[in-house]
Amino acid sequence: MMKKGNILIKNAAELVTCSGFKGKKGKSMSDLHIISNGAVVIEEGVIKAVGKTEELLKQYKEEDYKVIDASNKAVLPGFVDSHTHFVFGGYRAEEFSWRLRGDSYMSIMERGGGILSSVRATAEASKEELLKSAIKRLDSMLSFGVTTVEGKSGYGLDYETEIKQLEVMKEADNHHPVDVVSTFMGAHAVLKDYKGREGAFIDFLIEKVMPEVTERKLAEFCDVFCEKNVFSIEDSRKLLTKAKEMGFKVKLHADEIVQLGGAELAAELGAVSADHLLQASDQGIKEMEKAGVVATLLPGTAFSLKEDFARARYMIDNNCAVALATDLNPGSCFTESIPLIFALATLYMGMTTEEAVTALTINGAAAVDKADKIGSIDIGKKGDIIILEFPSYKYIPYHIGVSTVEKVVKNGILVYN
Ligand code: NIG
Ligand code: FE
Repeated sequence: MMKKGNILIKNAAELVTCSGFKGKKGKSMSDLHIISNGAVVIEEGVIKAVGKTEELLKQYKEEDYKVIDASNKAVLPGFVDSHTHFVFGGYRAEEFSWRLRGDSYMSIMERGGGILSSVRATAEASKEELLKSAIKRLDSMLSFGVTTVEGKSGYGLDYETEIKQLEVMKEADNHHPVDVVSTFMGAHAVLKDYKGREGAFIDFLIEKVMPEVTERKLAEFCDVFCEKNVFSIEDSRKLLTKAKEMGFKVKLHADEIVQLGGAELAAELGAVSADHLLQASDQGIKEMEKAGVVATLLPGTAFSLKEDFARARYMIDNNCAVALATDLNPGSCFTESIPLIFALATLYMGMTTEEAVTALTINGAAAVDKADKIGSIDIGKKGDIIILEFPSYKYIPYHIGVSTVEKVVKNGILVYN
């Protein structure tokens, strides 16, 4: 009897496993561990066997599985988009046009727009509206081959709306094949009442919001926008130290616009990832590498804000593990396009195609502390697989800005075709 979540994928021209290591990859990001004429067997959602098609077909009977013939196609692990803000109300197209005329992202924020304008719209939106738009965005991500996405709160900044955003993420996770990893990011901006009293706002989050988040298991990570005129190094250190004590794993929006020392702080705190890093110092990168912090780079944001890209080449050459993510959000980067991220990483950041694949699979998994469960085609991991319409992963950036993903399998079930 064929069980739910039993799939056998055979004859893959390239089975790109991204296998061969358990933690985070820096220098060895080029090694994709490819099996030609490969096959993978998934039983009840979990990868059971990986190898050459001829070998696997001797051991596993095709009638026990839904069979996908991947002749002339490349097969890869599902992409992990490890940094997004996909639950939000309203849009900021008007601000985008102001930026095209020369206004800076931070000047719009300082005038009460930017993140604060999404905060107003998110407070006004009902849970149902937020869920509907979130699901639509997850559908779009799935079509790009994303099987796990990280999402942040931070368009609430008050108790009710922060909790509402996290509840929506939990429901989205329950109602959609894409897995959602939730991050509490109450420290994303400050409302007018707290301007100049950021420390008091941090205390409010610690005392009034975070206990509820942990008690109801609404988020696994805590993140902060550590930036000039937002949260200082001291505020960020205080928040994240407390967060760790409360059982959160931590992340930072670090050194995005101004070099504050966010990379160094991420290393000091043993953060799982530090993200953006456009301005990260050499010393900060060195310390991140030593502490095993994943550098999550968000080229869509640099592109959209017309900033210089993060120094991916330098980081990888210095053995720092690099992940890539979209940063999907309504302000600095309104895109869930994985093909765009591939294009920017390879054509503008000096990354090879192999490194970009690693950065969106196993290193993306490491950036959400899940490299033992997802991110590669290895026995025991989730059966999250994508099948391309082309015979090689090399077509991903080559077909510029266009998705090459033909099928997506999530937990051994064909969910996109
Ligand atoms: O990662 N930098 C801060 N947060 C988001 C932007 C959020 C927004 O503009 O709405 C980011 O770029
Ligand atoms: Fe972000």
